[in-house]
Amino acid sequence: MTTKGKAFDLNAFLNQKTEAVNQALDHFLPPGKMRPSTLHEAMRYSLFAGGKRMRPAILLAAAEACGGKQGDAMPLACAVECIHTYSLVHDDLPAMDNDDFRRGKPTNHKVFGEGIAILAGDALLTQAFEIASASRGWPRYGHRDLILELARASGSLQLVAGQVADLEGEGKKLKLADLRYIHERKTSALLCCSVRLGGMSANCTPSQLKALTEFGYNVGLAFQVIDDILDVTQSSEQLGKTAGKDIAAQKATYPSLVGLEKSRRVAADLTRKAFSALKPFRGRAAALEALAQHLLKRDK
Ligand code: IPE
Ligand code: IPE
Ligand code: MG
Ligand code: MG
Ligand code: MG
Repeated sequence: MTTKGKAFDLNAFLNQKTEAVNQALDHFLPPGKMRPSTLHEAMRYSLFAGGKRMRPAILLAAAEACGGKQGDAMPLACAVECIHTYSLVHDDLPAMDNDDFRRGKPTNHKVFGEGIAILAGDALLTQAFEIASASRGWPRYGHRDLILELARASGSLQLVAGQVADLEGEGKKLKLADLRYIHERKTSALLCCSVRLGGMSANCTPSQLKALTEFGYNVGLAFQVIDDILDVTQSSEQLGKTAGKDIAAQKATYPSLVGLEKSRRVAADLTRKAFSALKPFRGRAAALEALAQHLLKRDK
């Protein structure tokens, strides 16, 4: 990936962002020892289990593309990671995907029990909004807009709607349009929201926000298609979560509906669409471009 002839060092970018996000999350979360300590330990257990931090990274990259400061975007970056982590803790519960491994470790309910895992998820979701309230408002995007953005992406019309449809789709042969509905909501909504919040934290122009929305939507869809592919092609060790679970649970996925080859083409097409959405940034979105490419090529 190059910009103005200079190679963009995505590894360095990701290392720096991950480090900064981890520090900020540690600052924002109640200490593990604080009462009720079981709950705070459980929240921290999943949050610091070693996730890829792709949502914060893409949020911070979007902020940079719009000339924003990392510090202004950081509370929002931490908020989306808390929402994402809560969604994984609940996704893994026996009543949902019933998974024993996540981020290379036993799942939250395996360590803390189902009750605490449910409550840790609840608390992480709520924590996200408390953290987001620490972000600064802007002339174009006040606190109300930022909170609304997060609430909408994670609520009953988006992330939770996707999880409902995902559960209700188990064992059924869904149409491609139904699968798209699931992917738009359970995964693309929060990724798109992350990209948009990055732009908003930099007081981006309406046309920049439109470009970022198009980018985030397509990257978000590609992300779930790849997740579906990796479930079939990778080992559990590589993924840090149990591979092959989608077939076992008779989940509707891209590979199950259209096969691996077509799924790969779909992910590549979505990534191309995401790329062309960045044209208005004319080379100033090197980190976003590199991230989109990385997410397409990822092997975990
Ligand atoms: C997994 O997300 C769940 C999906 C939405 C596909 P990630 O692959 O980003 O998981 P972590 O954060 O790295 O654990
Ligand atoms: C998870 O989708 C989406 C959310 C948690 C919102 P999956 O169920 O495919 O994610 P993995 O494969 O367990 O990470
Ligand atoms: Mg699931
Ligand atoms: Mg799952
Ligand atoms: Mg999956």
